[in-house]
Amino acid sequence: MPKHDPTCSHVEGLTYREGACGPVVMSDTRPNETPDSAPDERQGAAGARPAGDAGGVSYIPIPLDRLRVDTVTNFRLYLKSGAGGKYVLYRERDLVFGDRHKEKLQRSKVRNVFIPTEDHREYMRYLESQLSNIISDASIPELEKARIVYECSTQLVQDILEKPWLRENIRRAQDVVQNTVTHLLKGTGQFTSLLNMMSVDYYTYTHSVNVCVLGIALAQKLGLSVHELNQLGTGLLLHDIGKAEIPLDVLRKQTPLTAEEWEIIRMHPERGLEILEGTGEVDEICRVVVIQHHEKCTGRGYPHGLAADEIHYFAKIAAIADVFDALSTDRPYKNALNTFASLRLMQETMREDFDEKIFRELIVLMSGQATAMEDAASESEGSDDRWEAA
Ligand SMILES: [Fe+2]
Repeated sequence: MPKHDPTCSHVEGLTYREGACGPVVMSDTRPNETPDSAPDERQGAAGARPAGDAGGVSYIPIPLDRLRVDTVTNFRLYLKSGAGGKYVLYRERDLVFGDRHKEKLQRSKVRNVFIPTEDHREYMRYLESQLSNIISDASIPELEKARIVYECSTQLVQDILEKPWLRENIRRAQDVVQNTVTHLLKGTGQFTSLLNMMSVDYYTYTHSVNVCVLGIALAQKLGLSVHELNQLGTGLLLHDIGKAEIPLDVLRKQTPLTAEEWEIIRMHPERGLEILEGTGEVDEICRVVVIQHHEKCTGRGYPHGLAADEIHYFAKIAAIADVFDALSTDRPYKNALNTFASLRLMQETMREDFDEKIFRELIVLMSGQATAMEDAASESEGSDDRWEAA
């Protein structure tokens, strides 16, 4: 049994690369993931790997299909000229992008436009503002929708970690969660697509989104109403918001934590609650998920060591999703476990920490997903790894 909380950033004698985050993953780019040069996740890691560099300015390719007609693009658009590959300004900020603009580009066989890296955050806000339309647009492939939902959510959590007290950010979280719930309620395929998007690299912002998606899907199977899914989802997306107030030198420490530093880490649920209460923007459900997501049915959790019947049902869902994602993502001291190995470890070493019914539902949910994702190839390499529901 591990002598650590798998959802914590550090393990005694081992370290975790908290803060060594990469930028948001774009559809046709990958993040820069070099820990030494990675930006601080609280400052927003806006920008995917640039497609090019011209005169000190980097550009990111954007598939033309991501620009919605009759919308105002609040970022600059560039085209890459054939001769010499120079980036040429095509449109300034805050202009309406209409049908005729798109058709003209399509006639010229333009598949990608480019934005300067410094405009990436505005571009993500643009996608976020269009999320509802994108989700309901039947012409957009479901996988692309999942990618956009995931990218918008991860960028949003980065913004929240940077300015957690900002009311606007909390309202954005509620809107993004509502869109995510709408998307997930369309069918199991949507959950499968989002699972495929999930980063296996553990950063606070990707972890927050993963837990949100997992928890909503789990709660859906448990029969929660749409309103409850929205409430729970917001709590899940914000569950680690208190880490915004943990000193970076503790979060990013690469050597074993002292007992004092452990105490600081364990304060993040209370710090999170204080932040949310300060914004006045969230309901009781959201607050209880944040303050109780590290409580355990055995009473060995924190911050209050609550017993099973003292922990809110939604916080029990959060705790299970939290641990499952922590086990399923890479850490410096271990590779990500596959679905069945994660479930088995939870069963064998933490079973009594969890609500039995919720945990069983997680097994059903993830077993079905593993099959859907054709994960069987890696699972069958060792039949010992296969989960057997007790
Ligand atoms: Fe946490």
